[in-house]
Amino acid sequence: MKHYDYIIVGSGIAGLYAALKAREHGSVLVLTKGSIDECNTRYAQGGIAAPIGEGDSPRLHLEDTLRAGAGLVDGEAARILTEEAADRIADLVEFGVPFDTLDGEITLGREGAHSLPRILHAGGDATGAHIELTLSSVAKLSRITIMEHCLAARLHVADGAIEGLEALDCRTNTRLDFSCRFLILATGGAGQLYRISTNPSVATGDGVALAYQAGADVMDMEFFQFHPTALRMAGVEPFLISEAVRGEGGVLRDAGGRAFMADYDPAAELAPRDVVARAILAEVGKTGADHVYLDVTHLAPARVTSRFPHIYRFCLERGLDITREPIPVSPAAHYMMGGVRTNTWGETNIRGLYACGEAACTGVHGANRLASNSLLETIVFAKRVVQRTLRQAQGEPSVNETSVDAVSLSPAVAAEVPPLDVGALQSLMWDKVGIVRSGDSLAQARAILAAWQATLAQPSDRPSHELASLLTCARLVTEAALRRQESRGAHYRLDFPRPSQAWQRHIVFRHRQTQPQAAHPEPPPEADLPSADVEG
Ligand code: FAD
Ligand code: SIN
Repeated sequence: MKHYDYIIVGSGIAGLYAALKAREHGSVLVLTKGSIDECNTRYAQGGIAAPIGEGDSPRLHLEDTLRAGAGLVDGEAARILTEEAADRIADLVEFGVPFDTLDGEITLGREGAHSLPRILHAGGDATGAHIELTLSSVAKLSRITIMEHCLAARLHVADGAIEGLEALDCRTNTRLDFSCRFLILATGGAGQLYRISTNPSVATGDGVALAYQAGADVMDMEFFQFHPTALRMAGVEPFLISEAVRGEGGVLRDAGGRAFMADYDPAAELAPRDVVARAILAEVGKTGADHVYLDVTHLAPARVTSRFPHIYRFCLERGLDITREPIPVSPAAHYMMGGVRTNTWGETNIRGLYACGEAACTGVHGANRLASNSLLETIVFAKRVVQRTLRQAQGEPSVNETSVDAVSLSPAVAAEVPPLDVGALQSLMWDKVGIVRSGDSLAQARAILAAWQATLAQPSDRPSHELASLLTCARLVTEAALRRQESRGAHYRLDFPRPSQAWQRHIVFRHRQTQPQAAHPEPPPEADLPSADVEG
């Protein structure tokens, strides 16, 4: 069995940044299930938030982050996020990320729910592609072992500590075992849970599923952010139309050309994402259309094409000149606020197991993420993970313990269960556990998901592993959404349309039946139910 000091799963910004920091302290293996640049990071458009502009401060950035998170942000984690932002941006600049500048100064964009312009971008709207290309180029030239097309399939945990993992070589379907001192999950999000999503195909929630099955705490899964504006054109895959387009003055209009956002929120186009997404849903509900329009035709064409070259080109190649015609848009699943629960050093409740990036739940986003805080979160906490490995405590990591309030899922209703495949799961999640949920829709989803779980075969290749991960995540999202009997941030329930003081707390899951893992064990009895702890 090959041994490394650090095994890092994932090659997005979180994984690569962690690897570049960790290489200074030991041997590093990066596993990634596709090619190195297949990840959410590469598609990020708007940019990365940091309070570096004139008149801005970590304090103001913190206030915006707390407000967006609707009462569930971890104040200490968010303080760290905003205070360490400028230093981490400096790291990216040092690695070579070419942020856009004007007269030698970094230019800052504006996005929804930010009180000031504070979004750094690169190549206009190609920020993520520049970050990914820069970090992967540096990583390839470093003393880091990178294994592409290699999927982390199971974590090896013994006596509450990480020992290594089992991986699947996706090209040969052979199994490989690795041991390590520290294992960092940087596996990104789970946008593939939903039929309409901005996320690429790798976003299947594997890290959350792996960690959950290994006994790590998973938190806040009911909070899934839907981006209000993905391109909606027949025959065209969902494609993000950046929030920065509204930040630059883009206006949302109904089919008759009326600007409607002021009817829903005083901040109009710059209201929080969940507000804008639900407003669009309400508008399309009035007409039966499947989209509204985002209009930038009143802006100078040169401004549109220079600030959003990627969006402009993408649309033009599909026959839409956005400088002349409004853009048809509708909401799409975008970002997983929940994830593997960590403390402010990225530690999970399993010794030696860390998580960072979208796979982690540090608590900085609470019930709703502030735009462009996610890229920032990845590097702030990836840095802290590596710092922590240098002085890892011997005892149980200092993740707060939860009060136990274990509840079981109801048995599956065998009737009315369609055959399981990714498409069926995505449609179920979109229809029943989407932007707007209710107790009834969630209960229906829960029953079908449990029935699917009971029949799931042991995963043997990449698609079946991904399906198993999606199913685990779907059950966690649905179960948490069912328990949270209120509306807060990105979680909106028709039957409980207002926030409730009683629910100003987190829902944490820990696998009830976690056993020490054998090298090639039988699949865990997942039809048995996740237990949930509700934490004040
Ligand atoms: P990712 O970049 O998704 O990387 C995850 C990696 O893990 C991938 O390499 C994947 O292949 C690998 N992986 C997953 N499972 C396994 C496994 N089992 N075994 C091996 N490898 C595995 N955020 C912002 O802050 N600003 C923005 O402007 C912005 N725009 C966005 C636009 C789009 C279209 C999307 C989809 C997201 C956007 N976001 C934005 C969110 C942000 O991009 C992500 O949250 C962030 O990039 C996540 O980085 P990450 O490194 O955690 O995960
Ligand atoms: C966008 O460009 O609208 C995405 C920004 C984000 O998800 O933070």
